Amino acid sequence: MSYQNIVLEPIRNGVYLLTINRPKVLNALNAETLSELGMAVANVGKDSSARVLLITGAGEKAFVAGADIKAMQQLNPIQARALSRQALGAFRALEVLPVPTIAVVNGFALGGGCELAMSCDWILAGENAVFGQPEVGLGIIPGFGGTQRLSRLVGRAMAMELIVTGRHVAAEQARKIGLVNHVYPAASLMEEALSMAHLIASKGPVAVRLAKEVVQRGQDLDLDNACALESQAFGLCFGTTDQGEGMVAFLEKRQPEFMNQ
Ligand code: CAA
Repeated sequence: MSYQNIVLEPIRNGVYLLTINRPKVLNALNAETLSELGMAVANVGKDSSARVLLITGAGEKAFVAGADIKAMQQLNPIQARALSRQALGAFRALEVLPVPTIAVVNGFALGGGCELAMSCDWILAGENAVFGQPEVGLGIIPGFGGTQRLSRLVGRAMAMELIVTGRHVAAEQARKIGLVNHVYPAASLMEEALSMAHLIASKGPVAVRLAKEVVQRGQDLDLDNACALESQAFGLCFGTTDQGEGMVAFLEKRQPEFMNQ
């Protein structure tokens, strides 16, 4: 499948790299890019050998500098709502993709870019990364999930402050408030991200998928129901070949050879 605005590359061991590829406009998201992103996520979802999806932006300056302001400028309310719904659909599909997703933020992640990064399971940032929801400066509010995902990640008060001031947050500060898991020198960011992805790919694939599902689904449930979901998934692991292999390998003091079943 060929894309115009993104690049989807299988790296190895089931690790995929998706690059938003519109560097001339700092990888701004227009409707075509959102549509391709949705298709790429669906394609990764269909690959039972997929292990991890990394998302980054082309060039050295930006992850994604937001929704495409030029393309949005003339939208009427119904069209703007449709754009928001399109992005929300694509980002939700990314969020519930069966394999872990990591945003590799190599520069500006503003507006829709910050919202895309927050739809991944976690964010790794280069020292040059800059986050923010600057929409109020354009006379609009975040429309790709920012009002909700930012609050869930950093808490209501910090999210509110960032959204109503529109101010930028540097990488290290983003780590301190819980938006970013780790900050690396820009030059080694992708290497670190790939190393983390390969570490995940070396673990039991069924277990990794189940772990993601339970963490994702459990966060919207009360504790009793969430823990019940965990018990079910824990039990399910014991029906897999990989559980047998993982435990035998430990007892035999060797590396496991998982079969993804
Ligand atoms: N949409 C369209 N084009 C964009 C863009 C965007 N979000 N961000 C940058 N560009 C374009 C610029 O217009 C410029 O194009 P030209 O070369 O044709 O002039 C090019 O990318 C390079 O940008 P700058 O010259 O502005 O680069 P800079 O280094 O001076 O500034 C920046 C970088 C601070 C990121 C600045 O580009 C900027 O503030 N961009 C907009 C950020 C923003 O407001 N994002 C939110 C968008 S709204 C949104 O996302 C709504 C939502 O919730 C879905």
